[in-house]
Amino acid sequence: MKKSGLLLIIGVAIIVVLAVALALKKAPEQAAAPGPEAQEEVPVLKVGCDVAFPPFEWQDEQTGEFKGFDIELIQAIAEQMGMKAEIINTAWDGILPGLLNGNYDVIVSAMTITDERAQSVNFSDPYFTAGQVIVVRKDTEGITQPSDLKGKKVSVQINTTGDFAASKIKGIGEVKRFNLAPDAFLELKNGAVDACIMDIAVAADAVKNDDSLKIVGAPFTVEYYGIAMRKDREDLLKNINKALATLKSTGKYDEIYAKYFGE
Ligand code: ARG
Repeated sequence: MKKSGLLLIIGVAIIVVLAVALALKKAPEQAAAPGPEAQEEVPVLKVGCDVAFPPFEWQDEQTGEFKGFDIELIQAIAEQMGMKAEIINTAWDGILPGLLNGNYDVIVSAMTITDERAQSVNFSDPYFTAGQVIVVRKDTEGITQPSDLKGKKVSVQINTTGDFAASKIKGIGEVKRFNLAPDAFLELKNGAVDACIMDIAVAADAVKNDDSLKIVGAPFTVEYYGIAMRKDREDLLKNINKALATLKSTGKYDEIYAKYFGE
């Protein structure tokens, strides 16, 4: 019993020594001859995005792939900079702290450039014009402008410019805030609110895919989307603006735009 135990220990020791020797012998070989993939490795641009805001960003249910105008735009910008975009799906509420925390390099998420946000982050040049609209159920009458929302219940995505605009309407009945934009629409569909306030292109996409909803009136804010990054990334700001300008002059921007919004 004692002897066989000793033999076992020696046996194990020999195996360990052989394994280590083998590993040491192999390691330098691997490091010395990198495969073709290693040579092609391009730097990664990490992109924070709340991927639930079609047509700017959504996740294909079948493939799990991230799609949309923002996704293609930032992929093209990254490529222009000799980089590769990696999309990191992030809850909207907390997307700015995540950027400041270094979880990603930029936010591309149909984010409106606001003075308040610009105090903590830098924005690229504007890449899209937007505004808030009111969405109601098809059979709703008497709501066509913000002042008609007096005493009414309104759904929004939390901490968006739609939320800020709704919260400013005098005498508004209630603002119901949702983590996800699609849930704000759902609340309206279900009849739990009278209206939803949303970015126009996203509202247009929602009513296009849903007969029971309609947009009323004209956009009542003027907004511009920008790419956000930390203030200490002056280099990145310069490169992103340069890439964006290039994509606009080469027609690549127009090509992506036409794909999602027509000519
Ligand atoms: N444009 C609005 C804002 O900046 C809403 C953006 C929401 N984006 C999103 N991917 N959920 O507040």
